[in-house]
Amino acid sequence: MRISVVGTGHVGLTTAACLAHIGHDVLGVDDDAEKAASIARGEVPFHEPGLAELVREGLDAGRLRMSNDPREAAPHGEVVFVCVGTPTKDSGEANLVQVERVARMVADTLDGYTVVAEKSTVPVETGQWIRRTIEREARAGAEFDVASNPEFLREGRAVQDTLRPDRVVVGSHSPRAVERLREVYRPIVDGAGCPFVVTDLATAELIKHASNAFLATKISFINSVADICERTGADVETVAAAMGIDERIGAPFLKAGIGFGGECLPKDVRAFRYKADQLGVGFGILEAVERVNQARIDAFVEKIRGVVWNLEDKRVALWGLAFKPDTDDLRHSPALEVAERLVGGGAHVTAFDPVAMPAGKPLLPGVEFAADPYEAVRGADCLAICTEWSVFATADLERLRGELAHPVVVDGRNVMDPAAMAEAGFTYASMGRPTVGPAPHAG
Ligand code: UDX
Repeated sequence: MRISVVGTGHVGLTTAACLAHIGHDVLGVDDDAEKAASIARGEVPFHEPGLAELVREGLDAGRLRMSNDPREAAPHGEVVFVCVGTPTKDSGEANLVQVERVARMVADTLDGYTVVAEKSTVPVETGQWIRRTIEREARAGAEFDVASNPEFLREGRAVQDTLRPDRVVVGSHSPRAVERLREVYRPIVDGAGCPFVVTDLATAELIKHASNAFLATKISFINSVADICERTGADVETVAAAMGIDERIGAPFLKAGIGFGGECLPKDVRAFRYKADQLGVGFGILEAVERVNQARIDAFVEKIRGVVWNLEDKRVALWGLAFKPDTDDLRHSPALEVAERLVGGGAHVTAFDPVAMPAGKPLLPGVEFAADPYEAVRGADCLAICTEWSVFATADLERLRGELAHPVVVDGRNVMDPAAMAEAGFTYASMGRPTVGPAPHAG
């Protein structure tokens, strides 16, 4: 099928490459000419495992082409996927200007029956606005339908999540649009054996916001439990593991730490809360979710202060800048805020991240960067771990201890095993678990 994908962020480019991979004729559209041209050369503008290979495959096979002219999207696509950004305004409201721009451009260039499928995460009722906009602006008799087709991919696992999803959700009042999208996804749904959930437009939009808000709620919930664990000597990892065995609760997203970041969860919680307020629904839970998440940074910086005493002139090594592993995305990354707070407190910070340092350097002018994890800790008073990269979990503890000025580790993601850390002679503080090892600077 001929498909256009407007927007080449994580969702857009992954969608385009994966749909080309399963045999569709895909036109990727980005009005940033330089970006469109670099993707057309096979360059992926962000770190996402496996995506560059799929883009290359699509380009070589001629099933993926790029354009910087949005006016080509509707004439090419039997389905036009809208994957443009929906950033947050200061109020928390989602900014839908780019979505409206695409709707107007589609209206202006419609050519034969077209399904306009919103994939960008948008507040409920956005689809109605897209429909009204196209109805108002298209020539009389233009044939189109609007659908919501929310995307649930995770950064770092985007290809896998798109090709083997848990579910595909399509919301539209039009059976013709639903059938067209069923055709688009047939190879994926058959291959993954996953449900193809058909709903109305508003329900599909809500499924996305409600899902992300719920995931964020799980994280803030377990982080509050972690605080209780710390005050009572209990171990949050064991609490979470035992809770997760109950299938009504489920194990994922019960990992305590320095909180959730990224482009989606923080933005979606705020936008969902804003929309609920606008509809007169007091969604107080979401206010608490945000408040708890923000407090994680304070708690972590306090923990560091608790082991080094004053921050002034202390050398702190920071492992991890990305908001989670397998991405170079720094948007709303808790690690950045931690780094800024440490520098603001007078500490000398040296950071290492396996892939996010090029993106991090311009954002953290007061921070030094090391070529590898061990160089980062050389002579440091303490190591603070902010991202759960596997390379940190498998670090050589002897070497780490030898490089640090004092064997003190504060782990914001619980990547290390407390027993192993104690055994190796570290003072080791983590989130929601008892601190182990000698008191800092003992002896
Ligand atoms: C999220 C949703 O998971 C995905 O379905 C949606 O399409 C986009 O938003 P993503 O932003 O890639 O995906 O990140 P995710 O894996 O959800 O992690 C978000 C943040 O929560 C990270 O900072 C991560 O470290 C943190 N997290 C996650 C925890 O602190 N604890 C957990 O148990 C899980």
